[in-house]
Amino acid sequence: YYDMEEKIDYVFKVIVIGDSAVGKTQILSRFSKNEFCFDSKSTIGVEFQTRTVIINGKVIKAQIWDTAGQERAVTSAYYRGALGAMLVYDITKRQSFDHVAKWVEELRSHSDNTIVIMLVGNKGDLVDLRVVPTEDAIEFADEQGLFFYETSALTGENVETAFIKLFEEIN
Ligand code: GTP
Repeated sequence: YYDMEEKIDYVFKVIVIGDSAVGKTQILSRFSKNEFCFDSKSTIGVEFQTRTVIINGKVIKAQIWDTAGQERAVTSAYYRGALGAMLVYDITKRQSFDHVAKWVEELRSHSDNTIVIMLVGNKGDLVDLRVVPTEDAIEFADEQGLFFYETSALTGENVETAFIKLFEEIN
């Protein structure tokens, strides 16, 4: 054991965006604290969590920002300096996927054009309720140059993988 806080090479600001109730807060809490909460309250304002990880031999402190999907006027301060974005939809809510294009537009207009975007189809555990086919998301991600994973904040599946892949692509 050694104190990674002493040896941070880089701080990465990453933001989590997407419609309300898709699981943004739970994905973040799974990644930063390995926790999940069934009666998660809608996020009010902006919050962030941090986790320090080693990527390509460098100690990276990830500062991950979460905001309420309902907040229409996500301010430019939220996007400022972000190197990566997790753009989350819910595989059981078609509308949350249909809105992904708008979120990409919003991201591209407010952030640096080198921002790395990870499209995340969450609630993968709800297999019987799926309405968004994986292929639709793969096609959209290819067109738009996004990375893509399906995750479950509930089981934890692919949450870590998606974050680590995002960090690896930031440089
Ligand atoms: P806002 O703060 O309103 O923008 O919502 P959010 O996107 O942060 O959603 P939140 O993380 O609060 O999750 C919304 C609801 O979905 C909660 O009841 C969660 O318990 C549930 N949920 C989140 N992720 C998953 C998941 O992977 N699987 C299942 N089954 N439920 C999930």
